[in-house]
Amino acid sequence: MTVLQNTTIFADGRLSKADIAFDEKIRAIGASLSGDEKLDGSGKLVLPGAIDVHVHARDLNQSYKEDWRSLGRAAVAGGVTTAFAMPNTDPPLDTVEIVREYRRRASAAPVNAFIYGGITRENIAQLVSLANEVDGFKLYLGETTGNLVIRNKSLHRSIFKTVAQTKRVLAVHAQRDGAPAIVTQHESDDIGYVLDLADAYGTKLHLVHVTTRRGTEKILEAKHSKLDVTFEICPHYLFFTDRDRKERGAWLKINPPLATEEDREFLWWALRENLIDIVATDHAPHTVAEKSLSYERAPAGVPGVEYMPVLLLDAVNNKKLSLDQLVAVCSVNPARRFGLAKGELSIGLDADLVVVDMNVEKRITREMVRSKCGWSPYEGMRLRGWPVMVFVGGRLVHGAEIGTDDRASR
Ligand code: NCD
Ligand code: ZN
Ligand code: ZN
Repeated sequence: MTVLQNTTIFADGRLSKADIAFDEKIRAIGASLSGDEKLDGSGKLVLPGAIDVHVHARDLNQSYKEDWRSLGRAAVAGGVTTAFAMPNTDPPLDTVEIVREYRRRASAAPVNAFIYGGITRENIAQLVSLANEVDGFKLYLGETTGNLVIRNKSLHRSIFKTVAQTKRVLAVHAQRDGAPAIVTQHESDDIGYVLDLADAYGTKLHLVHVTTRRGTEKILEAKHSKLDVTFEICPHYLFFTDRDRKERGAWLKINPPLATEEDREFLWWALRENLIDIVATDHAPHTVAEKSLSYERAPAGVPGVEYMPVLLLDAVNNKKLSLDQLVAVCSVNPARRFGLAKGELSIGLDADLVVVDMNVEKRITREMVRSKCGWSPYEGMRLRGWPVMVFVGGRLVHGAEIGTDDRASR
């Protein structure tokens, strides 16, 4: 049993001074706990690990961009202890065999791995059996990386119907094809189309990477009429807009495209009003060489898993967000949506713990990036509030004690 002593725990929506004892699960929270391994947690904050429900771990034929090990190292360094991987890999995750192989590779990563099954024209009849191997399904309605796009409306209907039978969450990329401004403008229509399908078939729906005010409002209306829907926003939509894309070109080519300043401000407002279910990264690593191509030729997507909790911890330090709100969108709500025994510091839950020093300040540089893609859209940003020790299932996977360089740059 490990005991982190004299620390500050965030549990039940508030901070309190306590010790926390754990093996693979959290066993006790209280004063003067005993255990065979004692660690000093004074001056630090303990939070539940972040659950990122949207990463592209690549691997397989694209391990030059990222693989499970590099993804895992990057994730835990930033405080993400659980990652849900998308199926638009090469080859795609659309059969029992390939999902099993992907899970085997994921077991080498220091992060808890969950996997979405891919949906193609060919595998709709097999989704019920594939459901036993996956943690959710993912459907792409338009413009994205990989070959998983389905544009046929009658296929959409049979997919929503079949996935509803499996009781799995269906994550949907609801974006039409077209120029960035068109895609942004029509996001709420595309979301509306998907909400209607979920309503018709009773599918558990999760809308990925929502970018606009109108798109968000559409979902909030549907929630109001009791539809079983959740949605995520991504850090890049909180920090960048279409103006940044015009300046930085392919480096900020992302699906869906960066929206307007008004949308960005709305997302921050919605976060503070507790209207956002989940913040997920859509970590989409592509190499420096690939992102150096022209806007038209470069692939869409930016990496993000390494800095999501840190960007939000900095926002907490700057009073743009409360700690309670951070923990809700990064941990509590994703755990609830996917039914995981995680996401909170409660006895009996998995010991996925992030020990944070709210006073450590570092500037993000290209040299420090752990993701194999080798760059970050957040390079140059100075952020305050970093993980100093991270435990996954009670095992120390990141921190000064295991020889990382993170204590250096105070
Ligand atoms: C993602 C990728 O590269 O896999 N790219 C992106 O721009 N978001 C695909 C996706 O999430 O649609
Ligand atoms: Zn997408
Ligand atoms: Zn994605």
